[in-house]
Amino acid sequence: MSDPILSLKEVSLTLKGNAGAIKILRDVNLEVTAGSTLGLIGPSGSGKSSLLMIMGGLEQASSGQVLALGHSLGDMNEDELAIFRRDNMGVIFQSFHLIPTMTILENVATPLELRGEKDAFERAAAELTSVGLGERLDHYPSQLSGGEQQRAALARALAPRPKLMLADEPTGNLDQENGNAVIDLLFSLSQKNGTTVVMVTHSNELAARCDRVIRLQDGQVIVE
Ligand SMILES: Nc1ncnc2c1ncn2[C@@H]1O[C@H](COP(=O)(O)OP(=O)(O)OP(=O)(O)O)[C@@H](O)[C@H]1O
Ligand SMILES: [Mg+2]
Repeated sequence: MSDPILSLKEVSLTLKGNAGAIKILRDVNLEVTAGSTLGLIGPSGSGKSSLLMIMGGLEQASSGQVLALGHSLGDMNEDELAIFRRDNMGVIFQSFHLIPTMTILENVATPLELRGEKDAFERAAAELTSVGLGERLDHYPSQLSGGEQQRAALARALAPRPKLMLADEPTGNLDQENGNAVIDLLFSLSQKNGTTVVMVTHSNELAARCDRVIRLQDGQVIVE
């Protein structure tokens, strides 16, 4: 069997709150097979977004080990993590905003350029066209609706063809039609390019399309 692309061992996350330490995640053990799709479900506040942040190195685990593509995220500093993410991961978080002073074309093309890719602007235009924003390339994020901005952010995450895609409720702001289009794109990317997708969702229908689903409750994995 191939090595897992993501491996979490005894991962815990404790944050300090006003009323003392809060245990957000407790002893999470998880291995994600390369090329698979994993759905993360569970009630609000159960730790889904926190777990995804840890997988992406956006939050450091308080204890335990996180290996992504064989690299220990806990041993990297912020700069190393940023480069590692740029080269290997696509992240779609609600807090991962587009850069307001750049057009959406520039938003998508810039990370490609930073990776040293030559046809960054052509690739970016094609990617935005595939999410239905081909006519809006020169628009700034503020000129787009919430759902359009979300699709632009998706295009930005997809354009580099990352090995690993982390998505937190990627259809959260979208209507049914656009939501389905985004999800079809994610799944077809996974099938065509072998992209591993980890997706937080409140939709049972969406979770059912994943190869594997885990449910979190109170910071623990309760059902596989
Ligand atoms: N920075 C923080 N400081 C203190 N508590 C936090 C912080 N971030 C998250 N939490 C708490 O950690 C718990 C898990 O939060 P998380 O955002 O991971 O939940 P979630 O499963 O994604 O929920 P939702 O479905 O509502 O998005 C919650 O109780 C939340 O209040
Ligand atoms: Mg969340």
